[in-house]
Amino acid sequence: MDALRIALLVLHVGGMAVLLGGFGLELMGGTRRFSPVIFHMVGIQLLTGLLLVGVNEADDRDLDHTKVAVKLLIAFVVTGLVHATRKRDPLPPALFYGAFALAASNAVIAYAWT
Ligand code: HEM
Repeated sequence: MDALRIALLVLHVGGMAVLLGGFGLELMGGTRRFSPVIFHMVGIQLLTGLLLVGVNEADDRDLDHTKVAVKLLIAFVVTGLVHATRKRDPLPPALFYGAFALAASNAVIAYAWT
């Protein structure tokens, strides 16, 4: 079970890097849309995050449920925004930067919330 947990954690942390990198690539390219990378990675983060919760619970590991609930809520909002507006190009700045900030705040919460 520990190997599975670590594999999921690697996917989850790697997914975070690719997701935030996807936003960075848009900025570097001077575009402002929810690219296919962003579109798919928000789903991967949601899926691997939920699987991590399951594996941690099955192993009787201590999880901070408030922290997980806040991350889940933020991830739901980002996923909803990205799915609802993925065809818009360019996106209104508030929408693009808002989704970027929310995704980044999930990474900050993961490390800073102790
Ligand atoms: C944009 C979305 C997300 C980002 C950027 C993100 C980021 C991260 C990062 C960087 C870690 C590693 C923390 C460490 O190793 O100390 C982590 C761990 C974890 N994440 Fe996420 N996460 C996201 C969404 C979610 C969701 C939706 C859930 C579940 C509902 C979730 C559940 C977890 C769990 C259970 C862990 C391992 C235990 C812990 O460190 O608290 N994550 N996440």
